[in-house]
Order: sequence, then C-alpha cells, then structure tokens
Amino acid sequence: MRPCDNRCVSPSGARHAPPGEITQRRILDPGLIGPLIALVEAATASDGTDPGPNASFINGRALPVPPEIAAQTADFIWRLDGRVVGYAATYGFGGGDTEVVAVVHPTYRRRGIGLALVGAAVDFVRRGGFERALLVVPRTSHGGQALARRFGATFSHAEAAMTLQVAPPDTLGPGAGLDVRAATLADVAVLGEIGSAAFGSPVEEAMAISRSSILATGRTIQVFSYEGTDVAMISVASEGTEASIAGFAVRPEWQGRGFGRAILRWVAGRLAATGHSVTIEVDVTNARAANLYLETGFREDRIYDYLAVATG
Ligand SMILES: CC(C)(COP(=O)(O)OP(=O)(O)OC[C@H]1O[C@@H](n2cnc3c(N)ncnc32)[C@H](O)[C@@H]1OP(=O)(O)O)[C@@H](O)C(=O)NCCC(=O)NCCS
Repeated sequence: MRPCDNRCVSPSGARHAPPGEITQRRILDPGLIGPLIALVEAATASDGTDPGPNASFINGRALPVPPEIAAQTADFIWRLDGRVVGYAATYGFGGGDTEVVAVVHPTYRRRGIGLALVGAAVDFVRRGGFERALLVVPRTSHGGQALARRFGATFSHAEAAMTLQVAPPDTLGPGAGLDVRAATLADVAVLGEIGSAAFGSPVEEAMAISRSSILATGRTIQVFSYEGTDVAMISVASEGTEASIAGFAVRPEWQGRGFGRAILRWVAGRLAATGHSVTIEVDVTNARAANLYLETGFREDRIYDYLAVATG
C-alpha cells in the first residue's frame, strides 16, 4: 500500500491528488471480494446499469492467474477512510489488447479517483509493452464516456451484453450429428485455427487465447466435431450460478448448416437447467450472431463501448 501521489494521476490529469490511497494487486485478497461486490452493487443501483466488472468477474480475480495473461492482469483498489470506494482492473486473453474496467462509488465521484485508477491501469498496460488499452465503458455511463475522453480514447468497437431470458430445452447432446469433447492443451492448435478463421485474428493470438482459457480456473472450452472433423468451439466461464459464454465459433466453411444454433441451444439449455444465469456478448455490428442469440432466447441488456487508449 502506498499513499496516492502524482504517479497515481493521469498525465492529462487532475490538479490535486484525490483523497485516499491506491493499492495494486495481481491476485485479489479474498477479503476484498465482499467490499468490491458491494461497491459494484451501489454503482449499479445508482446508475441503472452494470459498470462492467460483476460479481463473477470479481470472484475470478482471487484465483491464480495463468502465466500467459499475468502481464495483462492487475487490480487497483482505492480506499478512503478505511472504505473501498473505487476499483479498476486490467485483463487480457494473451492477445494484443488489454481491457480496463473501472468503477467509483457514486458518493465519491468527481474527486479525481476514477482518473487516478484508470491512469494507473493504463500505465500498467503501457509498462507491460502493450500497444493499447481498451477502456470498457457502458454506453449510458455519462461519467465513463467523459472520463475516457480525458484519456484521448478513440472508439474501437461496441458489444451488446445479452442475458438468456427464455431457456431452450435441456437435451442430451447438441444433435445435428455433432460429437462433443472438453478441450485439453492438445487441442490448442485446432482451436487456434478455428478461432483465427472465424474471428479473423492471427492464429498465434487465437491459440494464446485458447491456451489461457483452458488453463483458467472455472472456464472450459468444448470442441465439436462432425464426421471426425473439428468444426466448432465454445467457451463457458462459470462462477457460482453465473455463467458466461464466449469464444463461440464455427469454422467458416462449416457455417450455415445449423451447427451454431444446435451448439448454442444445447449449451444454453444445459446451463439454465443446472440453475445458471447465462450471458453472452456480441459485437453490435455482427447482426447474424445477434439474431441467432435472440432466437436462442437471449435478450439485450446493455451496450459497452470499447474505447482505445494508445500505450505504444
Ligand atoms: C467513470 C467513473 C469511474 C468516473 O469516476 P470518478 O471518480 O467520478 O471520475 P473523476 O472524478 O476522476 O473524473 C475525472 C474526469 O472525468 C470526467 N467526468 C467524470 N464524470 C463525469 C460526469 N459525470 N460528467 C462530466 N464529466 C465527467 C471529467 O472530465 C472529470 O474531471 P473533472 O471532475 O476535473 O471535470 C464513474 O463515473 C463510474 O464508476 N461510472 C460507472 C462505471 C463506468 O462508466 N466505468 C467506465 C470506466 S472507464
């Protein structure tokens, strides 16, 4: 722990150091989980939208960090008068971008705490040698959008967060002639191929993301094959009763045959039947995927803008 000094403050910065102090952690002290969840709940109640980090995210921050993503992982806690009033976190998937989420308790806003927390997070990304930090900002967060402008952030992309509202039936398997297995490290190369082909990212980056997901606690990737060919994958992170789906991809040459629909219905139906709330995020320009999610029973909750701060 160190008292806040000017290094806490963005170069674009506040004139006076904000009150309180910042600490940086790579793995959260479990004792901080409760206060941080309370902080997020206070912000959600006041703003009417999730700030970005939720209970599942915060719980996951107390777990061991796989080496692939260690350089992208840090938590910043702001305390004032013995109370946790602000939080920022950086995370990545082994690929090029490091994402930043931040929240300040509604009672303690406009004192420079958000600027200092996000400044510290962006500095961490810069020191790690990464070229840009992506600030994750709820579209309706006036303060978040204004804060991002203070960093000269530019629009990268936007994602809609969707929650499963109408659960598909729980079936024994995905059907459609698909076989399923849980991915192991032996699958990293094929997952890299599928991810790279479906998302257009470099294959090394897609492999790194897959490797870190397989190693991460509470996350599993399932691989789907059709007549012996690996055609699709899906990644599920779960913490307690909250599950989130990511990394959902069908090889482009196998798209359009109903595999994606079958996989998503089966996975979502299984998770709902086992008592999970289920969320998924989709790039707002990806109408095809968004429609599939709507048809599967997901409904849009909110939109997050990903705003890029150059750190290279
Ligand atoms: C975004 C958030 C973290 C800002 O926290 P904060 O401690 O109030 O931010 P600061 O006091 O450091 O504000 C720094 C600057 O951002 C801008 N800003 C922040 N909130 C603003 C608001 N409501 N209206 C206008 N400008 C605002 C201002 O330029 C401000 O500087 P100033 O007070 O000297 O004018 C807080 O509003 C929050 O938790 N929002 C919900 C979650 C969210 O949007 N997260 C995105 C994080 S990138």
